[in-house]
Amino acid sequence: MSAVIVSGKDLAVEKRAFIKEKVSELHMEKSIQPCLAVILVGQDPASQSYVRAKQKACEEAGIKSILEEYPSSITQEELLNRITHFNDDASVHGILVQLPLPDHIDELAVIEHISPNKDVDGFHPVNIGRMMIDQKSFLPCTPYGIVEMIKSLDVSISGKHVVVIGRSNIVGKPVGQLLLKEDATVTYCHSRTKDLASITKQADILIAAVGRAKIIGPEYVKDGAIVIDVGVNRLETGKLCGDVDFESVKEKASFITPVPGGVGPMTITMLLHNTLQSAQNQAS
Ligand code: GUN
Repeated sequence: MSAVIVSGKDLAVEKRAFIKEKVSELHMEKSIQPCLAVILVGQDPASQSYVRAKQKACEEAGIKSILEEYPSSITQEELLNRITHFNDDASVHGILVQLPLPDHIDELAVIEHISPNKDVDGFHPVNIGRMMIDQKSFLPCTPYGIVEMIKSLDVSISGKHVVVIGRSNIVGKPVGQLLLKEDATVTYCHSRTKDLASITKQADILIAAVGRAKIIGPEYVKDGAIVIDVGVNRLETGKLCGDVDFESVKEKASFITPVPGGVGPMTITMLLHNTLQSAQNQAS
C-alpha cells in the first residue's frame, strides 16, 4: 500500500494563519509588533534563498523583519557588535544569524552572544540546556516542526521506537530529545554506525537527517513505518530531493514527508511561532 504523503505545506498554512491572528491580537491589545532581526553574512545562494523565505513568511504573518547583510570579510568583533545592538533594542524580539558563517568566525561565540531570550533559532546553549531538562525555552525550529508534524498524524508517539539517522546539533540530537520527551524510545545512528539497516528497520518512526540524496531506500524501512525526511539535496538536474528515495519508500511506509513541501515549511513556521512567543514574553 502506498503511504499517506504528509504535507508540511498544508500544516504550515494552518499554523501560520493561527500565528497571524495572534500577532494581530498582540498588536491591537498591547501595541507590540513582533520583530525578527536577521543577519546574513556572505553570498551563499542557499542561505540567501532561506533568508528570503523567512522574510516573506514574516511579512505574511504581520511580523516585522529587519535584514542586515554583510560581506564575508566582516570581522567577528563587528558581527558581535551588531548582535549587541539587537540584544539591547527592546523592539527586536528575535535575532537570527544565518549559518554557516565564514571559517574565520567562531560560530559558537556568535550563537552564545545572542541573548537567550531572543534566540528564536533555539541554538544557544542555555536554550539547549533548558530543553534537555524540560524547562520552558525556545525549541530549535526544524526538530520542533518535525514533532508538530508527527503529532498532526493522530498516532501516539509514546512507546514508539524512533530511529534518528544523523547527530547534528541543529536537527539530529534535538529531535531525538524532543521525541524522548514524548515518551518514545530513541536510537541515534550516524556515519560510524555498523549495519545501519538492521537498526533502521526496527523504527516505527524513522527520521533521516543525513544530507545525502536518496540514500535511504526501502531496505532501511520497516513495513508501515512513519518516515520523516529532513534532507534537502540538489541533484545535478537542479531538482531538490531528500535523503529518502521517496518513490520506492512510499510503497513501504505508512506516512512519508516529501521534499520539497515536507519538513521545510514547518521549520519556518516554528521560527514565526518562536518570534511571536518572544514578543508575548515581553508583553507579559
Ligand atoms: N542554516 C541552515 N538552517 C538554519 C537555521 O535553521 N537557522 C540558522 N540560523 N541558520 C541555518
